[in-house]
Amino acid sequence: MTEPEIPDAFDLARMTLRASIGGMLGNGRRMLRLLEQAAPRALLLLIMAAVVEGVATTVLPYSTKRIIDAVNLAGGIATVPLIWMIVEACVVTAQTMARSLTSYQTGVLEVRGTPFLVARVLEKVNRIAYPHIESPAFVDKLSRARQDAAQLGVKYALHVVTAGRALLTLAGGLALLVWISPLWTVPLVATAAALPFAIEVSRARRSFEVERNNLYRNRQGWYLEWLLSAPDQAKEIRATGISKWLLDLYATIHAPFIAGQIAVARRYFDRGLLATLSAAVLQYGPYGYFVLITVRGERTIGDLLLFVLSFRQATLALGQLLSAFAAAFEAHPYLSNLFQLLDHPDEVIDADPSPKASHLLSEVPDFEVSDVWFSYPGAKQPVLRGLDLHVRAGETLAIVGRNGIGKTTLVKLVLGLHQLDRGTIKLGGIDTGARTASWRRDNIGVVFQDFVRYQFSVRWNVGMGWCPDADDGAAVARALEMAQAGAILEQLSAGIESPLGIAFGGRNLSGGQWQRIALARLFMRRSLLWILDEPTSAMDPEAEEQVVRCFRQWTAGRTAIVITHRFSTARIADRIAVFDDGRITEIGTHDELIAAGRDYAKIFTRQAQSYATG
Ligand SMILES: Nc1ncnc2c1ncn2[C@@H]1O[C@H](COP(=O)(O)OP(=O)(O)OP(=O)(O)O)[C@@H](O)[C@H]1O
Ligand SMILES: [Mg+2]
Repeated sequence: MTEPEIPDAFDLARMTLRASIGGMLGNGRRMLRLLEQAAPRALLLLIMAAVVEGVATTVLPYSTKRIIDAVNLAGGIATVPLIWMIVEACVVTAQTMARSLTSYQTGVLEVRGTPFLVARVLEKVNRIAYPHIESPAFVDKLSRARQDAAQLGVKYALHVVTAGRALLTLAGGLALLVWISPLWTVPLVATAAALPFAIEVSRARRSFEVERNNLYRNRQGWYLEWLLSAPDQAKEIRATGISKWLLDLYATIHAPFIAGQIAVARRYFDRGLLATLSAAVLQYGPYGYFVLITVRGERTIGDLLLFVLSFRQATLALGQLLSAFAAAFEAHPYLSNLFQLLDHPDEVIDADPSPKASHLLSEVPDFEVSDVWFSYPGAKQPVLRGLDLHVRAGETLAIVGRNGIGKTTLVKLVLGLHQLDRGTIKLGGIDTGARTASWRRDNIGVVFQDFVRYQFSVRWNVGMGWCPDADDGAAVARALEMAQAGAILEQLSAGIESPLGIAFGGRNLSGGQWQRIALARLFMRRSLLWILDEPTSAMDPEAEEQVVRCFRQWTAGRTAIVITHRFSTARIADRIAVFDDGRITEIGTHDELIAAGRDYAKIFTRQAQSYATG
């Protein structure tokens, strides 16, 4: 299998340290602004707690020094300055409260922020032109963005808050250190903390490179996980006994990723260890020196304690700052991918995509396709080549044609999911291409060949056909009755409220039964043009006959197009169009087409003969 191009967000060349810092700060600001919409209070409290903790951590070593010096130099409990004891008690209380508040509000930010970010991604998906959804590079970007929004978004904002707090503590620690000890100790402390960080940044970069190079394989891995665990395909997998084969494939697919990540971990183990040991040596140099000058009596015990505490505070804070930075650095390209998706221009402008009665045409429309040409991106041959078709107002037209000839493509074009290369499609004289997506959707009711089997109740499955009427029990019941779904309902214990599909403990329907539910969903739609793509393909001949008998009744007062391979279904239409070679090659009533003796007549005769001879 050839691997598709890697999405541009995963451009490692741009992931240099310098270029990333600007991007990281930008991403951090943007993520905080986004989360401010989801949980403004939690974010504010987190920032306040970070400031309190940062300041408290700086004040504590100083107050401790004052208390120790007072005890040591003057001796006796009475000499302990009460004021510093009170200060220390207050600071410790504030610090403890700030820590509790941080963990409480982190939880709040996570539970509010994560679904908020995922919802922004899902909202965006529906504003992106449909052809992107069919491109593998886009699917990669989308699946990553959804995952990243869920896993990294809030964490990233928390890294920013942690970095802010660490910066404050570091500034305090360094100020104390500069005040209490010789200046030469400061760069040593900084180098000690920076060494492990440099190694971590380099490791993150390599690990990301491995992840990026295996993106396509990992996505195949997710697909296999789904294939081997979801119920839809379990029957076939058991019937063919391919689970072992698929599991081997799963292992093979992941092998380069696993080997790559282990190699990175091994490579950086030695370096990390070396950096940490060097850091310890660097840190203990100034410490030893300070012990020496204290022993000599040049400094007090309180000074030594302050040195130790502020030294530890500065190294700890620098470590925290750098690890927050390293984590943000690792997450940064994924966040860029998420923001790149969110920044994708809105191609489908639909503030509220729910159906609106105000869009509906007032009269039964005719439907006209003129000189339509269309090729899929990258395809060698156009699917439609100058297609002309006129369906009269109130007429039911059947379209027949070979597999893969372009019938479903035509339906997608009518809905405006793909742009025409040439030509026009008019409904009631109105150019549908010049109208909004929601206008087209509301005026054109479609049931697709591969309709969705929603794992919801019967009521929702049907009501979703026209959301504003979803709670109208009578409308849903009417649609179910039109689709002759009574027999299905009789089998269900909770009637219309029964869940369908096994995902949430509902009943799984047969293919033909699901098809009736999909038809009922169409019957909820108030659109005056209905297009049915293979509406009876999964039904038994008796069920099909029932449907066919009622068909004219359903489509009364509407214009309808029914795409079918079954000539018994096609016959009920007013006229039949034969689709071949990118255009309509024959059109007329059944009798006219039989009399013409061309393709339709030949195929019909063959189908009829095969029924007659059994
Ligand atoms: N997203 C796509 N990208 C590229 N080519 C596509 C895409 N979807 C369909 N095709 C190709 O376009 C052609 C027409 O497909 P379409 O689904 O419209 O056929 P159809 O007439 O509905 O067939 P069937 O009777 O099997 O439903 C086929 O050759 C198919 O391979
Ligand atoms: Mg089709």
